[in-house]
Amino acid sequence: MSISVIGSGYVGTTIAACFADIGHEVVNIDVDESIVDTINSGEAPIHEDALSELVREHTQETKRLEATTDYDSVLDTDVTFLCLPTPQNEDGSIDLSIMKTGAEQLGETLAEKQDWHTVIVKSTVIPRSTEDVITPVIEDAAGKTAGEEFGVGMNPEFLREGTAVHDFLDPDKVVLGADDERALTDMHDVFDPLVERTDAPVVETDTKTAEMIKYANNGFLAAKVSLINDIGNICKEFGIDAYEVADAMGLDDRIGEQFLRSGLGWGGSCFPKDTNAIIAAARNQNYDPAMLEAAVEVNDRQPERLLSLLDDHIEVSGKRVAVLGLAFKPGTDDVRNSRAIPVIEGLQERGATVAAYDPVATENMREQLPDIEYEDSAEATLTDASACLVCTDWDEFEVLDEEFDAMTQQIVVDGRRCIAPREGMTYEGLTW
Ligand code: UDX
Repeated sequence: MSISVIGSGYVGTTIAACFADIGHEVVNIDVDESIVDTINSGEAPIHEDALSELVREHTQETKRLEATTDYDSVLDTDVTFLCLPTPQNEDGSIDLSIMKTGAEQLGETLAEKQDWHTVIVKSTVIPRSTEDVITPVIEDAAGKTAGEEFGVGMNPEFLREGTAVHDFLDPDKVVLGADDERALTDMHDVFDPLVERTDAPVVETDTKTAEMIKYANNGFLAAKVSLINDIGNICKEFGIDAYEVADAMGLDDRIGEQFLRSGLGWGGSCFPKDTNAIIAAARNQNYDPAMLEAAVEVNDRQPERLLSLLDDHIEVSGKRVAVLGLAFKPGTDDVRNSRAIPVIEGLQERGATVAAYDPVATENMREQLPDIEYEDSAEATLTDASACLVCTDWDEFEVLDEEFDAMTQQIVVDGRRCIAPREGMTYEGLTW
């Protein structure tokens, strides 16, 4: 099949490279010329495991992938995936303006197309956005009727940063939301090579249910982490190790062992934004989603709890404090909504001199927080520090040992359970 993917962000670039990998001809369209050039030179524009290899292979060898700034490339394809950002407004609600602009441009392009074309919304959008907002914009711009001259589908993504390529190529499920039969057939043609290879279950539904499945998935997982954090905080008060408790809980099939790592909470580009957006959308329907609101509240509290554990051991004003880990989770350079941000801000409010290190996310954090010291290694960060706070569980932190000797005082407050306590260290775990 011939596929166009509009947007070369985390999702767009990943699915474009993966569609090429399963045998489709793919053109990835983005307004940013430097991103387009990067992809065409065989490199991934983002830090994502296994993505560079796929981009290189399919732009340089199989030639099934190319990037362009030209929307007209859509005309040579059968199906278009819309992978544009859906940021949040100040009140947490979804901002569909970029989607609307992209849909309008796509519609204007599709006005030229004689044959049937299917447009598939991949971006995370509030239920009924595809039906009530995006489709009418395309219809107006194209002068065509959805379901008659072009099809519309919704196919949510469940790609974790750091393992996005793997998650695409070996999915737990494929959700195909369509409001007309031909769109559904086109979506099957896109995903059949993947489904035949992996035996992934396929969920066929309408677009609004597909949209909701995405929010339900992320809301549930965010709430699961907040619930284990709530339980972890109780464990800490009783002097109980929340990880021992979670291991036992995970043996219950109804609970499952994943997403039971308590600590500093969730960040990233999806959980915070999606949870806020579905809360705002629910309130807009006059429903107060108490569980999801509580999930956000617990998440907001964890950085302050980490800092108050530090306060129990040391007054950090005027002292150097090491922060290990800036990415919102290991395996990515993404610092969006990283829990390290409120931790660093809390240290600054306390008058500490903050020294920070992350294996890959330093430059991204420097853009957000330019006024702290960034070091090139964990050891340099720990040197002369009076305390250390751990915000991301990178593997390389687990093997730190003698590096702590360079601290003036070995006080370590671990938000991610990744440091091995050692002789002479005052060690506090956030929930253990
Ligand atoms: C998430 C969803 O998992 C993915 O399906 C969706 O499409 C995009 O959003 P991602 O943001 O990459 O993926 O991160 P994920 O691995 O799900 O972790 C989210 C956050 O929860 C991270 O900050 C992580 O540190 C935290 N987390 C996760 C915990 O604190 N404890 C856990 O046990 C699991």
